[in-house]
Amino acid sequence: MPTGNDRIAEIIDETYGPIVKSRLEHPVRTPELAVKILEEQYKLIVDKRIVSLTFAAFMNSRPVLYEGPPGTGKTEIGEALLELWSARKPFVLPCSENYDEYKIIGDFHPLLALRKGFNEESFIPRPLLAAFILGTGVLVDEIRRSSEEFHNLLLDIADKRRIIVPELRRAFTQTSEGFQIVFTSNPEDIGQNELSDAFLRRVVRIEFTYPPRNVEEKILKLRMSPDIDIPGDVRSIMLDIVEDLREAPINYKPGTADIVLWARMSQAIASLRGRSTVGIDCLREAALSTLVKRPEDAHTVREIVNSYL
Ligand SMILES: Nc1ncnc2c1ncn2[C@@H]1O[C@H](COP(=O)(O)OP(=O)(O)OP(=O)(O)O)[C@@H](O)[C@H]1O
Ligand SMILES: [Mg+2]
Repeated sequence: MPTGNDRIAEIIDETYGPIVKSRLEHPVRTPELAVKILEEQYKLIVDKRIVSLTFAAFMNSRPVLYEGPPGTGKTEIGEALLELWSARKPFVLPCSENYDEYKIIGDFHPLLALRKGFNEESFIPRPLLAAFILGTGVLVDEIRRSSEEFHNLLLDIADKRRIIVPELRRAFTQTSEGFQIVFTSNPEDIGQNELSDAFLRRVVRIEFTYPPRNVEEKILKLRMSPDIDIPGDVRSIMLDIVEDLREAPINYKPGTADIVLWARMSQAIASLRGRSTVGIDCLREAALSTLVKRPEDAHTVREIVNSYL
């Protein structure tokens, strides 16, 4: 928490304080209650095992790594669990190759640095330092998209729970256990960096998979618009198609996020036609736009969709 005359803590509080404000008044750290709140307030159906493992890792000050195929809820669940853990909204860092400490810890304003030097007056704190000082979580999204150097920087911070800014001659230490890290990664994504053994040794890896059919149907019901009905038999066809596509020899397999988008697009199309129920024609119209992500998959996806619709 910001103390008396700490200029950096004050700037962080002013700039980032409102962003991390959560509607939760207290942290939620019991898995049963978390599962209930995730469903009721975040519309997320999360296995208690995932919640327990994540909280157990946090209790040991270990980052977690959510690994699994696209659209299985890694990012949203990570954000939600970090928020429950600290009763503050987490920061999300979407990774890219050129991430470095200046972009996540802090930078210097070039003109101010020229005039006043590299000191606290010209320092601009960035999200990781802000999370550290405010005691909130950080979701480092798609970690494989960043460099090994960046992985090592994060691991060092996660290990030592300390952030050093040499230009300021300062070491910031963790003030609250609200600061935790969730990494996400999709190992099947092409052209991504490997995670080193050193990285994997330090994190608690939690695998995400496509949910069982009954859970996916529950998610579908929870996420579809309440205004336009999707009858049970239509939902069932959607689940059949998606199951078949996951077995098919295609490069992009639809995740839960895709079936939810398909449902919502079909509902919107029904609504545009002045209907209150989704029919097969609406499903068909939205299918290829939501299920084909790579041109080379189009033929197979079309064949499977046509065999049902
Ligand atoms: N367990 C779940 N409960 C509720 N909705 C879910 C769940 N899993 C996936 N979804 C759907 O997927 C969306 C979230 O997907 P999210 O982007 O978090 O997945 P991801 O695994 O991070 O995907 P990617 O690898 O593409 O980043 C939600 O908005 C929702 O529509
Ligand atoms: Mg994601």
